Amino acid sequence: MLRTVIALFAVCGLASAGIAGEVTYRKDIRPLWVQKCAQCHGAEAPYLGDFEENKKKFEAMLVGPRMDTYADLVFFIGWPDTGALMRRLDDGKATSDGKPGNMYTHLGDSDEERRKNLDLFKQWVGKDAWKLNRWKARGKVPAITKEELDRIEAKY
Ligand code: HEC
Repeated sequence: MLRTVIALFAVCGLASAGIAGEVTYRKDIRPLWVQKCAQCHGAEAPYLGDFEENKKKFEAMLVGPRMDTYADLVFFIGWPDTGALMRRLDDGKATSDGKPGNMYTHLGDSDEERRKNLDLFKQWVGKDAWKLNRWKARGKVPAITKEELDRIEAKY
């Protein structure tokens, strides 16, 4: 009996530690996004469709497409802009030319901070889910597969 109780405590303890350590949008990504991305991707920024129709104008204003809610951010992970977040934030380890994505620099002021915040985004997107492929193949890059999409976690 005592053993069962101890075992139960151990299991529950581990389970709650797992939940506490889990990276979520509300707890981790939203605050980071407010700090590092909101100034250019906030609620007053255009949706991607509007952005693309006036790309030059918005780029000159340093305004990117809007990603200020959970739904508007996962748009750039899963679909329709599959892998965009990963392509732009990658440090060069997963890109085809070995160069970091052009939003990597916004992740922090030092290498250490950028690495730490990239790691947080990677953990959030999901284990082995950090893929740069698009929905459709482009050039030599194959389309994302269902198996790869299945790994995306991006917990709310
Ligand atoms: C100083 C302004 C600025 C900041 C800060 C910034 N961005 Fe951007 N972002 C832009 C602009 C402008 C574009 C559009 C031009 C381009 O594609 O490079 C863009 C494009 C993007 C795209 C590509 C969207 C597409 O067209 O598919 C993603 C993804 C992105 N940003 C994510 C982020 C994330 C995540 C952060 C925070 C870590 C961030 N950005 C911080 C200005 C910014």
